[in-house]
Amino acid sequence: IKSQPTIFIIFGGTGDLNSRKLAPALYNLYLEGWLPDQFSIIGTGRTPLSDEDFKGKLLEGINSFSRSGKVKDDKWADFSQHLHYQVSDINNHETYKEFGARIAAHNAEWGTEANVIYYLAVSPNFFPIIAENISKSNLAEDPEKTRIVIEKPFGHDLESAVSLNKLLSGIFDEKQIYRIDHYLGKQTVQNIMAFRFANAILEPIWNRNYIEHVQISVTEQLGVEERGDYYDGSGAMRDMIQNHLLQLLCLVAMESPVSFDADEIRNRKVDVLKAMRKFTAEDVRLSAVRGQYGSGWMKGKEVPGYREEPNVDKESNTETFAAIKFFVDNWRWQGVPFYVRTGKRLHQSASVITIQFKDVPHMVFPKEANESWQQNRLIISIQPEMSIRLQVQAKRPGLDMYLNAVDMVFDYKGTYTTEAPEAYETLLLDTMLGDQTLFMRGDQVETAWELIMPILNAWQGRKSLNFPNYSADSWGPEIAEALIARDGFHWFTLPIKGKK
Ligand code: BG6
Repeated sequence: IKSQPTIFIIFGGTGDLNSRKLAPALYNLYLEGWLPDQFSIIGTGRTPLSDEDFKGKLLEGINSFSRSGKVKDDKWADFSQHLHYQVSDINNHETYKEFGARIAAHNAEWGTEANVIYYLAVSPNFFPIIAENISKSNLAEDPEKTRIVIEKPFGHDLESAVSLNKLLSGIFDEKQIYRIDHYLGKQTVQNIMAFRFANAILEPIWNRNYIEHVQISVTEQLGVEERGDYYDGSGAMRDMIQNHLLQLLCLVAMESPVSFDADEIRNRKVDVLKAMRKFTAEDVRLSAVRGQYGSGWMKGKEVPGYREEPNVDKESNTETFAAIKFFVDNWRWQGVPFYVRTGKRLHQSASVITIQFKDVPHMVFPKEANESWQQNRLIISIQPEMSIRLQVQAKRPGLDMYLNAVDMVFDYKGTYTTEAPEAYETLLLDTMLGDQTLFMRGDQVETAWELIMPILNAWQGRKSLNFPNYSADSWGPEIAEALIARDGFHWFTLPIKGKK
């Protein structure tokens, strides 16, 4: 399936996201024959650049960040003919007139009316003005042909998300709006649905009768890097939990959809968010913890604490770690805790979902026979290892009846020879094809904000924190261990395999 002739207009064309993610993804789609024959990528930004400068910048990005490695000359020569640059002032009507002229010129050249995708890879303050000016300049009149892609963060809180949705829905139909959550484009994340709904053996045990608790853990070794400006006003809750982690939770907890229709799937996810227990002030105290990293050593290098990072307030109370215990109040999940945690500068970079099943109802084997007794666990490793492991008890070889826990493993690397595409390849292709399944619908974003607002509000009211409260290369603050230990569990980790 190839999409229609397409024009991409990338706002923030000279930015990091374009160089690191969008351009490499578009180039790989091109290499693998997914792009239509007629396509044009127009980068735009404040900096005056020639087309050649722009191409050079993207070439550098693709050579450094593409999974397919350095470009081959002949392929690049052809691909780069489709790249253009336009200097712009997003406040100025003339800018949009020029876009209109470029679109018209392509249409005339191609003898068709191309799809136009406006990709807003810019700071969220600019979303409203760009959307309004696109509309005022009549550049989004045909809902079948024009789409707008909005990067995260979508709103800073519930109120701002609602008002951004209002503004966008005054201009675009919902079917034109593609709100990105790049986690949804990851192969292993898409596989959660395949695994759950394409295998008959799981559904009967996928509920409170068999599952004891669920852990969703997205840990990163990286610090805040050059993004202090954005991150200090945001924090782990807004940056990761409101979107990526809650989306993972929805995929684990959702009811089976009737079909693979985008809205059907998104409805089932919204059902989960709506069923999630709202936090009272007391719940926040008991079930939500936060942390901030201090300095330390990582991989033999000394790293600064969060408050010493560039563009971060020296007395910042922004959390770089959060761990929350959620409940989903419905028939399937009543009483099953979902523990989620995420943080920067932690010991390991890994995104892993663990489902721990209840223990056997009756122990047949004598205690001494159990080398390492462990309840059954299903471990969905999203990255860096891409795998699903079912941990079961097995008899150790020998004349005695000794048991230990072993892994039944499905590993992408060992199973498939084809390399997995990057999340942005999937998401850009879906945008071209008009498939919104892996994008956030307006109500989904708002419901997620609604859920976390009581936590953010309670945190905002309590300023005197003992930050930093964990050191770089640790597993986060001790209170995060206490949160889960209180229920008799502990956070699981996997020995890492794969690159990250
Ligand atoms: C982004 C966050 O959405 O996701 C970053 O803004 C975070 O802070 C990143 O580092 C993690 O994504 P990935 O794909 O590297 O796990």
